[in-house]
Amino acid sequence: MPPRWLYDDLGSALFESICQLPWYRITRSERALIEAHGADVFDALDGPLEIVELGGGNGEKLDLLLDAAARRHRDVSVRLIDISQAALDAARARLEARANPPRVHLTRGPYEASLASLAGAAGSRLMLFLGSNIGNFDPPEARALLRGLAQAAGGGGAVLLGVDLVKPDADLLLAYDDPLQVTAAFNRNLLTRMNRDLGANFPLDAFAHRAVWSRHASRVEMRLVATAASDVTIPAAGVSARFEPGDFIWTESSYKYTPGRIEALAAKVGLDIGRQWIDPAAGFALSLLLPRGR
Ligand code: AVI
Repeated sequence: MPPRWLYDDLGSALFESICQLPWYRITRSERALIEAHGADVFDALDGPLEIVELGGGNGEKLDLLLDAAARRHRDVSVRLIDISQAALDAARARLEARANPPRVHLTRGPYEASLASLAGAAGSRLMLFLGSNIGNFDPPEARALLRGLAQAAGGGGAVLLGVDLVKPDADLLLAYDDPLQVTAAFNRNLLTRMNRDLGANFPLDAFAHRAVWSRHASRVEMRLVATAASDVTIPAAGVSARFEPGDFIWTESSYKYTPGRIEALAAKVGLDIGRQWIDPAAGFALSLLLPRGR
């Protein structure tokens, strides 16, 4: 399913909770890398700068980057792109509470359309695509998104990309099937949404959350597995289906990269790795990608 469907207001709140789970390290690791190296990001960028963040949730990491920009005496404006109005509102409130609030523009919508609306405008941009959001896209879509980010950044800009790395199977499975079942609620919320927004009749107790690591495809697959037979209709989508026990809906992919695969992905869209900071304990990489030859 397109990942954006996971993020209605409840889904966004559940995801914020996932980020606090001890077994889900992406957010904490990335925050620590930004705290340690954020100011270095601005050394590679000259002139007036717009920072554009896609899918930034509550704006916490952007807040840290603005602290880093202030340490380098950089005056920046901010544009936030997100599918969730609740996330946009929370991020704006956080930014407006800063001692020197930046100018903030909000764009609510899917990434692809929002990026297309930025392409071609003058100026340099620092495009933030953090939290391993890129991991939720299949390789051709990930490439297209990164190309859109590179185009929106412009020749004098950069892309700051946070990517989760391949790590031991047990760590990956705990991150996506946590003992508190918060990720299970996040996944099953899709059924609640389909029942509410599309008039569907999924029996929630007939589907269980499952996370499967495919080493071959280098992705964690989130699934909703039928535990009992059910006949389901989704009127607004014109779909009806019978589920037998064991049938599943593949709800999300979360691709994991190696540093070499990040470099190869960037190269395909004309970007080089300018700087890269890795947290080896959590298995997470923050890369500053620059247009080739700069
Ligand atoms: C937002 N995205 C990068 C998360 C991830 O890790 O793929 C979404 C998520 N799915 C399950 N847990 C968190």
